[in-house]
Amino acid sequence: MATYGTTAPTNKAIVDWIETYRLHCQPDRIFWVDGSEAEKEHLLAEAVRNGVLTTLNQDKLPGCYYHRSNPNDVARVEQCTFICTPTKDEAGPTNNWAPPREMYEKLSGLLYGAMRGRTMYVVPYLMGPPGSPLSKVGIEITDSIYVVLNMRIMSRVGRVALDQLGHADDFNRGVHSVLDCHPDRRFICHFPQDDTIISVGSGYGGNVLLGKKCLCLRIGSYLGRQQGWMAEHMLILCVESPEGEKTYVAAAFPSACGKTNFAMLIPPAHFKGWKVTTIGDDIAWMKPGPDGRLYAINPELGYFGVAPGTNLKSNPNAMASIAKDTIYTNVALAPDGTVWWEGHDDPPPAGLLDWKGSPWTPDSTEKAAHPNSRFTAPMTNNPALAPEAHDPQGVPISAIIFGGRRATTMPLIFQAFNWIHGVYLGATMGSEMTAAAAGTIGQVRRDPMAMLPFCGYNMGDYFNHWIGIRRDLGDPPRIFHVNWFRKDANDKFLWPGYGENFRVLKWIVERCQGRGKAHETPIGWMPRYEEFDWTGLDYPREKFEQSIKIDSAEWNRELLSQTELFLQLHDRLPKELIFQRELLISRL
Ligand code: GTP
Ligand code: SPV
Ligand code: MN
Repeated sequence: MATYGTTAPTNKAIVDWIETYRLHCQPDRIFWVDGSEAEKEHLLAEAVRNGVLTTLNQDKLPGCYYHRSNPNDVARVEQCTFICTPTKDEAGPTNNWAPPREMYEKLSGLLYGAMRGRTMYVVPYLMGPPGSPLSKVGIEITDSIYVVLNMRIMSRVGRVALDQLGHADDFNRGVHSVLDCHPDRRFICHFPQDDTIISVGSGYGGNVLLGKKCLCLRIGSYLGRQQGWMAEHMLILCVESPEGEKTYVAAAFPSACGKTNFAMLIPPAHFKGWKVTTIGDDIAWMKPGPDGRLYAINPELGYFGVAPGTNLKSNPNAMASIAKDTIYTNVALAPDGTVWWEGHDDPPPAGLLDWKGSPWTPDSTEKAAHPNSRFTAPMTNNPALAPEAHDPQGVPISAIIFGGRRATTMPLIFQAFNWIHGVYLGATMGSEMTAAAAGTIGQVRRDPMAMLPFCGYNMGDYFNHWIGIRRDLGDPPRIFHVNWFRKDANDKFLWPGYGENFRVLKWIVERCQGRGKAHETPIGWMPRYEEFDWTGLDYPREKFEQSIKIDSAEWNRELLSQTELFLQLHDRLPKELIFQRELLISRL
């Protein structure tokens, strides 16, 4: 008999805390996750036996499995997500707030006896490279084997986390139960002052992989403000020139707005010798170093990426990343045990089952894969993985890029005049809503720094923190704004995007290295057509002019829409941002 999951850790703080929840949730058994390969095989077999996972075609997709979530549970739910700080003011007007004591009580009621007949899995995990001063240990209790298998891909679990913690008790406490997976009993609650997360009623992604959005961003941002670092919804990449010069770039785009794609970008063939490598695709923890530069680590170990639109043309590195040892969630399933989604390279195979398990044909009115269907893949599968992804010191960031999904107004690229102007660009960022969260898709909303759903405290204080961090940066990153999603009169994207984004990235790198040319406009520094090398792309000057046009009617509407956010945050809004707004108005 194998005895996986029986060895409890020796850290007394962990053992005591688990015992409290064992008594309360009353599981039939406890399973201590150790992160070993043998354990993985055992868990996968169990998940297949229980019908949680389906084994995919092991010849074509070795080590890959398929999962369908409850159709009522397919994305993050912001209306069920709470920041339970002692006062409402600490959470601020952009977060749902509930008094901690009230919320603890409600959750305690929901969790009482909730794991009867189930297994309580205990997942010790480490966010960040072992030994990094920025890394953090969390323990997640969960009754979902799907969560355990995903956490094993997304973070460093088991021994490595316990070793980093030693006998300390400053680990993040995370409790998760699917309960009966009912939207009325779905609460994703953060208690930043207690370094605690409790999530119930969901089994999906960012709601339940507690190391990801809950710890890395909501709790992380709260701790970062106290401790002088930043937790951001950013990819991290490295651009290497043919001469071997490396430039590190971080970019904040809202959910489903292109971080994974940009982080894995392959330069067009013409740019021989240029290389882009991936450090992270979703989250950056950043801290000023002794040399006055901003150092960033990727706390994650895997990619929880959007499947639709992923193909060999748009993102070959993602396709390689998901060719093995990957969990596919809510994509469509083919009879031969392969998977399909809208925007796949292949035409839809005959006999396809959609994400709900119903037969699907190209005539069907619904999508075969859910628009927020995802893959969970180990980052070590990525052919473009940067070795720096494992560096405990992190990488020095030269450029920060903000960018939303905007059909109008926002030009392809411009550069902020300075740090504070850059903070203003991030703070006023707008984006059309996507399927990554429940809500009205396509509507433009303000999403400051792509952190609206993820900031664990008052957004006004968060802006102040951004402004304040400048004091510790002798050599701050340059700040840029991009928009890959501007459309023409026929509703077609003006910019080809994906790999072609390298042409924009190269200009950004040149600006950071003090080489690129730019001219001053009312909104920032911009490149002229001549500044880009267009070899290999048919992109006429007129189209470029259209993609960087500053339309005054659109900017008037933009300024009004920014006002709404500023009014909402009025009592904590840094005056620097109000001045930036006045300056922009006078320039326009
Ligand atoms: P999260 O994981 O939700 O945080 O999203 P993300 O920012 O990593 O987004 P991702 O890279 O997965 O892209 C989301 C969608 O945008 C996919 O359907 C992509 O195909 C599409 N997309 C990404 N980059 C581009 C681009 O440059 N141009 C266009 N038109 N679409 C893009
Ligand atoms: C996002 O929505 O920004 C994601 C996916 O990265 S989830 O982990 O579900 O939040
Ligand atoms: Mn994300």
